[in-house]
Amino acid sequence: MCECRNCNHCDKKDDSLTVSRRKVMAWSIGAINLAVFGAVFGPVLGFLGSPLKARTKKEWVPVCGLDELEPGKTKEVTYVVRVKDGYTMADHRYALFLKREANEVVAIDPACTHLGCKVQYQEKQGRYLCPCHGGVFDTEGNVVSGPPPKALLRHAVEVRDGQVFVQRNA
Ligand code: FES
Repeated sequence: MCECRNCNHCDKKDDSLTVSRRKVMAWSIGAINLAVFGAVFGPVLGFLGSPLKARTKKEWVPVCGLDELEPGKTKEVTYVVRVKDGYTMADHRYALFLKREANEVVAIDPACTHLGCKVQYQEKQGRYLCPCHGGVFDTEGNVVSGPPPKALLRHAVEVRDGQVFVQRNA
C-alpha cells in the first residue's frame, strides 16, 4: 500500500489539504462583495452618523471672567469657538446671556425657540423680547407670551479659577 498522502499512484487523498476550486471562487466572490459593500455603504453610514456624533460631542468653552459679571444682573457676552468647517478651521462668534446669582451663573442662549431670531434682554422689564414675532420670555427664559413653543435654551456652566465656562456642542 502506498504511504503517501496525495499521489497519482493510488486513490488515497487527504481532503484536509485540498480546497476545491468552487470554495476558492465562493470565498473570492464573498471578499469582493464585502469590499464593494464597504466602499459603497461605508461613506454613506459615515455621512449619516456624523451629525449624531457631532451633536453628542460637548466641550467647555471659556466665555468671560467671573468678576465681569455683576451679581443679580444679566449681561450679554460674546465668545469665539474655533470649529472645523469642511477641510478648514473657522472662528465662529456666539452670543450668550449670563446672569450671576448667589451661588451660580446661569447661561441663556439668545436664539428664540420659535424661528431662531436673536432675543434682546430688556433690563427694566426683566424680559427677553424677540423682535421677529413678539415672543416674550421672563428672566429665567420661560415663555411669557407669543409664538415660541418652549423656554430659551440654557447652557451648563462651570466656574474654574475665576473663569466662566459654558458647555456647548463642539
Ligand atoms: S422667532 Fe422669535 S417669536 Fe418668532
